[in-house]
Formats: sequence, C-alpha cells, structure tokens
Amino acid sequence: MRAVVFFWLLLALNSGSAHYSGGSNVVYHTLPHFWTGVGFCPAGRINHKDISETLASPAVQMNLRQISALPKGAVTHIRIHWLLELVEFLQYSAAGVPIYDFSKFDDFVDNLQELQLAPVLEFMANPGDVFLQNPNRNSFLWEHFAKTTVRHFLARHGAARMSNWRFETWNEPDIHNYNRLNFTAATYMEYVRAIRRGLSNATGHRRRRKKQNYRALRGPAGLFKSHEHHPLCWQLLDVCNRQLSQCPIDILTFHRKGHGEAAEILNGTMELLQEIYQQYPNLRKLPVANDEADPESNWSTPRDYQADVRYAVILLSTVLEHWRAKLAVNGVLSKLESLSHDNAFLSYHPHEFSQRTLLAHFRFNETQPPHSQFVQKPVYAALGMLSKLGNKAADVELVNMDQEHSVQVLRSVSGSGPSAYIAAIFVSPEQAGPQLTSYHHKYTLNMSIANESAFITELLVPQTTDPFYIWQQNGSPAYPNATLRAAMRRAQTPRLYETGPIWEYNSELVLNSASLPLPWAMLLRVCSGSWPKLKQPKNLEIVEVTKGEVFLSWRENSKSTQCLKTYEVWFRERIGAHWQYISKGWHLPYPSFQYAPAEGFSVNGFYKVRGVDLFSATSAYSEIVEYLEM
Ligand SMILES: *[C@@H]1O[C@H](CO)[C@@H](O)[C@H](O)[C@H]1NC(C)=O
Ligand SMILES: *[C@@H]1O[C@H](CO)[C@@H](O)[C@H](O)[C@H]1NC(C)=O
Ligand SMILES: *[C@@H]1O[C@H](CO)[C@@H](O)[C@H](O)[C@H]1NC(C)=O
Ligand SMILES: *[C@@H]1O[C@H](CO)[C@@H](O)[C@H](O)[C@H]1NC(C)=O
Ligand SMILES: *[C@@H]1O[C@H](CO)[C@@H](O)[C@H](O)[C@H]1NC(C)=O
Ligand SMILES: *[C@@H]1O[C@H](CO)[C@@H](O)[C@H](O)[C@H]1NC(C)=O
Ligand SMILES: *[C@@H]1O[C@H](CO)[C@@H](O)[C@H](O)[C@H]1NC(C)=O
Ligand SMILES: *[C@@H]1O[C@H](CO)[C@@H](O)[C@H](O)[C@H]1NC(C)=O
Repeated sequence: MRAVVFFWLLLALNSGSAHYSGGSNVVYHTLPHFWTGVGFCPAGRINHKDISETLASPAVQMNLRQISALPKGAVTHIRIHWLLELVEFLQYSAAGVPIYDFSKFDDFVDNLQELQLAPVLEFMANPGDVFLQNPNRNSFLWEHFAKTTVRHFLARHGAARMSNWRFETWNEPDIHNYNRLNFTAATYMEYVRAIRRGLSNATGHRRRRKKQNYRALRGPAGLFKSHEHHPLCWQLLDVCNRQLSQCPIDILTFHRKGHGEAAEILNGTMELLQEIYQQYPNLRKLPVANDEADPESNWSTPRDYQADVRYAVILLSTVLEHWRAKLAVNGVLSKLESLSHDNAFLSYHPHEFSQRTLLAHFRFNETQPPHSQFVQKPVYAALGMLSKLGNKAADVELVNMDQEHSVQVLRSVSGSGPSAYIAAIFVSPEQAGPQLTSYHHKYTLNMSIANESAFITELLVPQTTDPFYIWQQNGSPAYPNATLRAAMRRAQTPRLYETGPIWEYNSELVLNSASLPLPWAMLLRVCSGSWPKLKQPKNLEIVEVTKGEVFLSWRENSKSTQCLKTYEVWFRERIGAHWQYISKGWHLPYPSFQYAPAEGFSVNGFYKVRGVDLFSATSAYSEIVEYLEM
C-alpha cells in the first residue's frame, strides 16, 4: 500500500478497508447549477438621471467586472432593481404613444453582455412619469413599454444572445417603498397582464408556451407575508390558481430569508410553498424561484459573519440544502428553478467587509482622482467553488461530527468511464459541541477512470483565507496601504491545500479536520488524464485601478477549466525584454489578477496569461495585450 500522509489530509491508495460505504451505491441525478444569480439595488435616488449616473460610476462598473471575473458559470444572472429607469422618455408621438430613448440602457447592457452577465429585467420603472400621467391608459402603456423594450433588445442583441435573459414583474409590489405607482389590486393585475401581452406580442406570436421564442415571465417577486398586508402578490396567485392557462406568470418568484442561518432560508421556503400549494393546488405545476435567498434581510446592516468564511459556508449550505430538498420525492421544492443571492451591492465605509456583499469595497478619497479598491471576500470564493461542480450529483451526505453537527458532502461528476471528472464539496458546521470528534472521514473516490488521474483540494478556512481578519489585525485602516492590500489579496482565493497524481483505482481520501478551525469548506476535484486539455484563455483585459495599478481578467473555456490548478500572469516592459512571471507565488484558480508593482516599477508594457492544470500541463498563452497608462 502506498500512502501519502498530509498534515490533516491523507490520500490512501488501495487500502482495502471500507470505513465508509457512501461510495458503493451512489445514485447521481442531473444537477442544474441553479444558484448562479446575484442582485443589488443601485444607491441613490430613483430617477433616470441618478440611476444612470450610479450604474455608470467607476465603482459600480469595477464591482461588476470583479463579479464577472469569477470562473465561467459561477454567476450567470444579475438582477438589478430599477434597471429600466435607464430608459429615458423623450416625448409622445402625435398619436399619443410614448417615444423612448434606450441609449443609457444600451451602454450599460452592452457592457454586461461583454462581461457575460445576463440581466434579469424587472418591469419596474416609470420613465418620464408616463405611468402616473394617464392611469386609465396604463394597460396600453405597459404593454407598449414591454413590447417596445423587447423589440429594441431583439434588434440590438438578437434572439440567441437574449435567450438566457430573464423578465420579471415589479419587485415586492406590496412594499410601500417599492410600490411607487400605488398599485391597487385591480391596477396591479392589469399591469401584470399588460407585461405578459407585451412580451408575447414583441415577437408577433400569440402566446404558446412551447414556442421557441416564448419569453417566460417571472413574478410576483413577493415577500408573501400575511394576506392582509401583502394582498397584491396573494391575489395574483389566486387568479392563477383559478385558471392556470390564463396565468400571466410562468415562474413563481418569492423572497425568503433567514435570521442568520442557511437552514432558516430553506425552512421558510418550505413553509411558504406548503401554504401556497394547500390554498392554490394548481400552482404546483409552476417552477419556483427564491430570488432573494439571503441569510438575513437588510443588506446594509453590518454583520461580522458576512465579512468572513462564515458567510461563505452559509451560502454553500444554502445551496446544498436546497439541492437535498429538491431531490426529495414529492417534495415541495421539486419545482425549484433557481436561487439568487442579493449580494452584489457596493459596500461603504466603515463597513467595507461586513455588509452583505461579495466584495469588500474601499473608497480611496485621498487619491487624485478618488478611486476604488476591491478585495474578494470568502463568499465570492465560495461561488467559484460551486461552479466547479459537475453536471450530475448525488444527494447530500451528512457525516456526523458530534451528536448534533454534521459535515455536508456533495459529490458530483461529469463525463464517464475513462474521461471522468469528479468534484466534491465538503462543508463543515459553523460550530460543534465541546465533545466534538474531529471530522475523520474516509471518502471512496471510486474512480473507475483511466490509470492516470490527479486530484486537488482547496480550502476556505478562518484566518487563512480571510482578508477581513488580516485587515482587522492591521487596525482596520480606511485606506489600507499597498502592502496590506497585497496581503489581503493573497488571502482572497481558496487556499491550495494539496494536489498530485493518483495512479491506482479505488483510491480513498481520508480527511482529518482535527487541526482546522470551524467553519471550513473544501473543494476536491479529481480529473482523469483524458479530460479535455486546458484551452487558451481569451479576451485578456487590463483596466486601470489607480496610477501604477491594474486589474487583469480574462475569459475561460468552461469545458476545459475543471482541471485547472492555477493561472500564470506574465509581463514584459517592452518588446525584446524578458518575460517576467509576475503572479509567481500566487494561487490563482479564478480568471483575474490585480497587479500593483512596487514603487519605481511601471505597469506599462505587455501582458499574457496561461493556465496550468492538475498534471502541470500548460495551456497556450492568451494573446499578448499591451497596456499604457494615460
Ligand atoms: C464504482 O462506480 C462504478 C461505475 O460508476 C459502479 O458500477 C461501481 O459499483 C462503483 N463501485 C464502488 C465500490 O463504488
Ligand atoms: C401614493 O399614495 C400615497 C399615500 O397613500 C400618496 O402620498 C402618494 O402621493 C401617492 N403617489 C402617487 C404617485 O399617486
Ligand atoms: C397582443 O397579444 C394579445 C394576445 O396575447 C392580443 O389579445 C392583443 O390584442 C395583442 N395586442 C397587440 C397590440 O397586438
Ligand atoms: C422551521 O420553522 C418552524 C415553524 O416556524 C419551526 O418550528 C422550526 O423550528 C424551524 N426549523 C428550523 C430548522 O429553523
Ligand atoms: C437597514 O440597515 C441600516 C443600517 O444598519 C439601517 O439604517 C436601516 O434602518 C435598516 N433598515 C431596515 C428596514 O431595517
Ligand atoms: C469618502 O467620501 C465619501 C463621500 O464623501 C464618504 O461617504 C466616505 O465615507 C469617504 N470614505 C472614507 C474612507 O472616508
Ligand atoms: C495502466 O497502467 C499500467 C501500468 O502503467 C498499464 O500496464 C496498464 O495497461 C494501464 N491500463 C490502462 C487501462 O491504461
Ligand atoms: C502598511 O500598513 C501596515 C498596517 O496598517 C503597516 O504595519 C505598515 O507599516 C505599512 N507599510 C508601509 C510601507 O507604510
């Protein structure tokens, strides 16, 4: 027997003993990556001018660029309140029909398209107050607005590029803050029906659910508290239940959050759906989505757990628990279509890390001009880990740590036979009792795959992959200096724990978490040698952060990056100079790098990037891109 013993992780090969039998009769189910939505509400006042300025601001743009620099497929959709305020009302035509200008909207959405983020368009705007001026024409005006808008996108982007866009009704219409048009039960139903007609008529087809270019409408994006306080959303369900074929929505969306724990999100969701199905049994046929599935309401309230590994673990648990519930036979969650996390906000001083965001945002007011620095939080890294799951997964396994606390294990696969890929995520509990037995888990890989395969484990752990901790250790300065920023960024990616070849069949992985502080999460990937080779990184882009500092990001080919170990970034000052490996010593499993050379060195020059896989084979270099400071 050959065994490699690591500090806490042991890869035992061909050890005959079978402590753990989870490997033998695992059933895999198709795993839709249903958790890839994020959202936010732009800061400031709600009107065309302010929303346009906010969304075009360098800070918001850099935040989006960072989110889009997660591994391919980690975040696919972004839900932004009041996005349609970017549409400007110009005037009425002679026939009394509004004429809209889409140029601000186009600028923003063109950029989203380049970042490969699909918008979730909430029909939630009031350009030029048109919907307040002639309330009795709103039915016509909404249909016209929806139709005109979709036609405009179709002409600009084409049906293919738009095929994954999502359309949704007004967010939380029962909440006064949002219900700026003072919808009543009657006018709200009129509005929803008008949007439905507008979507259908945009392509000139009568409604046919199976029609290829039928555009599904999501709604009512409701909180669904009591019927008394939230009459609009409940009424829509009632109408739909009476005659499902005339229901204007296709996907039932709602918002359920917890009080700080993942289990509460799922619990609240199950309770809500049970209530809905009991009263409105016909709605069981509709797919459902929780598009604000957050651990706690109010994004801006600072909470320490949102800064560190705990939030990452809560998000991972939320996804795993929803997967378990979705698989349950006849379960209320069998129609779960997607989850979205409302955490794409821009944090502000002095809560750089602790608001509900993916990134810590430092606004440097003392530079000329002011600029923003971003640090990726562990929850950002967690979304990247989830993107590495395969397209089939087993039910979540629970392995006890003590009487009350378990590690959740989700194993997934892609491909089969000699060309297989395995990815498993392990999520520890947040805490455990004093009688905690450390997690000691023998994990049968059962690689019925060719001889030559390789594995990698990456970890999120308190303090180690925790830029917030590093910031606090250094006195939480409002303007962290370059040294501290680099230290935080070195802690922002999952830590490479161990990687190496596996030569034999039926390998077993033994995890011993004795020395790890709680909570932690681990991603294990195993690749067969015949998995598609890493492809060349594409579209290397370099943008300024501030003088002497740049942010690089590039596009991955999704099929080939499962077996990626790290990226390498190379730089040379001028043609003929030596290429320098500027990301040496950094673990870069995600397609971005912030380059801030020491004072006296320039960022001007040529850049190229390549990937390195688990077998230490390299991809072709990206194209070389030149950067010159203005
Ligand atoms: C290993 O996987 C193969 C194919 O997926 C399956 O037939 C076999 O039963 C599994 N064996 C064990 C020990 O898990
Ligand atoms: C909506 O109703 C509130 C009070 O119920 C009122 O103050 C406000 O002016 C109304 N808004 C519109 C746009 O009619
Ligand atoms: C839009 O389509 C609906 C049927 O879905 C139809 O009743 C309505 O008249 C159409 N409106 C326009 C303006 O074409
Ligand atoms: C789920 O909700 C019910 C009712 O509110 C409560 O009794 C139960 O303890 C909750 N469970 C969890 C795990 O939060
Ligand atoms: C949300 O949090 C902010 C900051 O803590 C606070 O000022 C605000 O009142 C909160 N809003 C609600 C609705 O609780
Ligand atoms: C920077 O300026 C903005 C706007 O005046 C302010 O809100 C923010 O608190 C300042 N940031 C710091 C770190 O002082
Ligand atoms: C696996 O490797 C062994 C020894 O290197 C070799 O004899 C055998 O043919 C290989 N099997 C396969 C399926 O490639
Ligand atoms: C950078 O900041 C850290 C912590 O605030 C401090 O310890 C260090 O001396 C600073 N380094 C420089 C070069 O100013």
